[in-house]
Amino acid sequence: MKITVVGAGAVGATCADNIARKELAEEVVLVDIKEGLAEGKALDMFQTASMLEFDTRIVGSTNDYSKTANSDVVVITSGVPRKPGMTREELIGINAGIVKTVTENILKHSPNAIIIIISNPMDTMTYLALKNSGVAKNRIIGMGGILDSARFKAYLSAELQCSPNDLHAVVIGGHGDTTMIPLIRHATLNGKPVSSILSPEKQKQVVADTMVGGATLTKLIGTSAWYAPGAAGAMLVESIIRDQKKVFPCCVYLDGEYGEKDICIGVPVVIGRNGWEKILDYDLNEEEKALFAKSAEAVRNMNGVLSTLDVSA
Ligand code: 2OP
Repeated sequence: MKITVVGAGAVGATCADNIARKELAEEVVLVDIKEGLAEGKALDMFQTASMLEFDTRIVGSTNDYSKTANSDVVVITSGVPRKPGMTREELIGINAGIVKTVTENILKHSPNAIIIIISNPMDTMTYLALKNSGVAKNRIIGMGGILDSARFKAYLSAELQCSPNDLHAVVIGGHGDTTMIPLIRHATLNGKPVSSILSPEKQKQVVADTMVGGATLTKLIGTSAWYAPGAAGAMLVESIIRDQKKVFPCCVYLDGEYGEKDICIGVPVVIGRNGWEKILDYDLNEEEKALFAKSAEAVRNMNGVLSTLDVSA
C-alpha cells in the first residue's frame, strides 16, 4: 500500500505521522510546495521508526508528483489555515485554486486513488475536487465530521466525567462554526441517552462549544489546530486501507439523500476499501431536518462562490 499526504504543514505532517505509526502502508509520501519542507519532515519522522517501532518508509518531495505515483489513498491538506477571528469560509479565494491544482496533479499519477480532503472550507473544497475531477463520487471524501464528533465527545466527556470512548456522539452538516449540527438528542453514554443525564443548559453549552471547537483552538494557538485534524485524517485512511467499514460522519456527495442534491456535506457513511460505500439514514426529527436544510443552504451558497473564482466546478 502507498499513501500520499499533500501539504507538510502541521495537519499534513501529523496525519502522515499517525499513518506511519499505525503502519497503514509500506510507503508514505509527503508533498509540499515549499522547498525542502516535506523532505525534512519526512526524514525527521522516519528517524523515529526504530524508537516507535514502525516499518513504514516515509519520503518527502518538493512538488514532484511523480513520487506519489500509484498511491492507494491521498490526503489533501494543502492551502492556508485560518488565523484568529477568521472563518473557514474566508479561505476559499486562496484554497480553491490550490486544491484544484493538487487534485489534478494527484490524479495524473494515481488515477485510481481515493482522495480525502481536509483543506478548508472543506465542504466546498470536497465539492470542487469531485466536480473538477469527474471521478466516481465514492472516491472523494471530506474530513470534518469525524473531527467535529471527536470534539463533541471531548466536551461531553469533560461534563460527564466519563471516557470519550464510552460515548457515541455524531456531528453532521457542514464543517463550519454555524453550519455543523452536533446531534445531542442521539448522543449516548454506554447506550444511555446523554439528554437524560445532562441538564438542558449543559447540553446547549456542549453543543455551542463543539460548534466553535476549531475557532477556540485557533484563538489559543494563533493558527488552526493539527493534532485532532491529523488524527481524524489517519482514522479515515485506516478504515479505507483495512476495509474496516467503520461508520463516520463525512462530507460526501448527496443525490437526494437527506433531502439534498448536488452538494457535498456531512452525513454518516460506511468507510471501506471503496471509499465511502453507503450513506446511513439517521432518523432526524423536524428540528434536526430544518437545521440540516439550513446548513445545506449555507454550504450551497459557499459553493456558488466557486463560479466567481478562476476555478470551474
Ligand atoms: C479544524 O476544525 C482545521 O478545520 C480544521 O480544526
